[in-house]
Amino acid sequence: MRTVKIKSPANIAFIKYWGQRDSQFVLPYNDSFSMNLSDCYVLLEIESLENIGIKKLYIKNYQKENFEIAEKESMKKVINFYQQAKNFLKIKKEIGFIIKSQNSFPKKAGIASSAAFFSGLALGLTKLFNIDLDKKKLSILARLSGSGSACRSIPDGFSWWHKGKDSLSSFATSIAKPSYWQLVDLVLILSKKEKKTSSQEGHLKALTSPLFLPRIKHINDRIRRIKKAFFKKDFTSFGEILEEEAISMHSVMMTQKPPLYYWSKKTVEVIKEIVKLRQKGLESYFTIDAGENVHLICQKKDCDKFFNYFKNFPGIFDIIINSVCQGTRLLK
Ligand code: DP6
Repeated sequence: MRTVKIKSPANIAFIKYWGQRDSQFVLPYNDSFSMNLSDCYVLLEIESLENIGIKKLYIKNYQKENFEIAEKESMKKVINFYQQAKNFLKIKKEIGFIIKSQNSFPKKAGIASSAAFFSGLALGLTKLFNIDLDKKKLSILARLSGSGSACRSIPDGFSWWHKGKDSLSSFATSIAKPSYWQLVDLVLILSKKEKKTSSQEGHLKALTSPLFLPRIKHINDRIRRIKKAFFKKDFTSFGEILEEEAISMHSVMMTQKPPLYYWSKKTVEVIKEIVKLRQKGLESYFTIDAGENVHLICQKKDCDKFFNYFKNFPGIFDIIINSVCQGTRLLK
């Protein structure tokens, strides 16, 4: 039997995916747009076994020495995805497997750990079944994992998830190579705590927010504006739009029922600091996913200045510096 090794990045969205128009096929209401993160990734080693009774997942978390057997809940998601993958790939044969997964960053803390994991697993399973999928089909498969944003980790560099009309037309493609624009995402880690509500549960309640439909009504205009700024490399307009977008998504999260308050006191302090520095001429913008950690988006030329400024900032206990990188790939 075979062992495959895979490296798969997390991604940070500039236009977010929040809310599902179809939960079975994980279809979004709107297109979304992200960059792959060079230093927030998952390394997977997957061994296939003749013994179909063995299906195991071991996880080595951020800054931990040893692998630990995964919780039941995570294992359940893996088994579900394995079945989905078999259906999608029309595979009848059963295999056993042992997965070893290592995270370069805290999981379930708003840094897209599931996106990194499931995009990697999508590629890994195709390889174990000896199937070569093109990136479009691989992106569809990753989306079907339930962690929809996983589809954006498959293509290289800057990824665009086309919402599509149905399951086969909803996938991500690369709109620019990693070298296109030297943007940096400094992930300011304020907490390693795992979130209590999964994004999946959150998506299903998005429509209960009175702000959800107004968000969707305006999102195409925001998408048009951010695309224009991106292709002009107009950092100021680009940054203003990505901030506006993060606030729009969190306004929905905070007003849905039950509400999701991901921001902490420290999140707000850091946001204010980013705005203060910007007013003084040091330009960066913030975005936040489903967690309290802040992603500071800046240009490479300013990266050291921000790193030095925030490294001793109260409440920040780690900073992960990410450039734009390629997507999910096979190492062996
Ligand atoms: C807030 O359902 O893809 O990050 O399963 O936790 O990976 P996980 O999340 P998923 O939703 C992502 C929601 C988001 C916004 C985004 O990345 O677009």
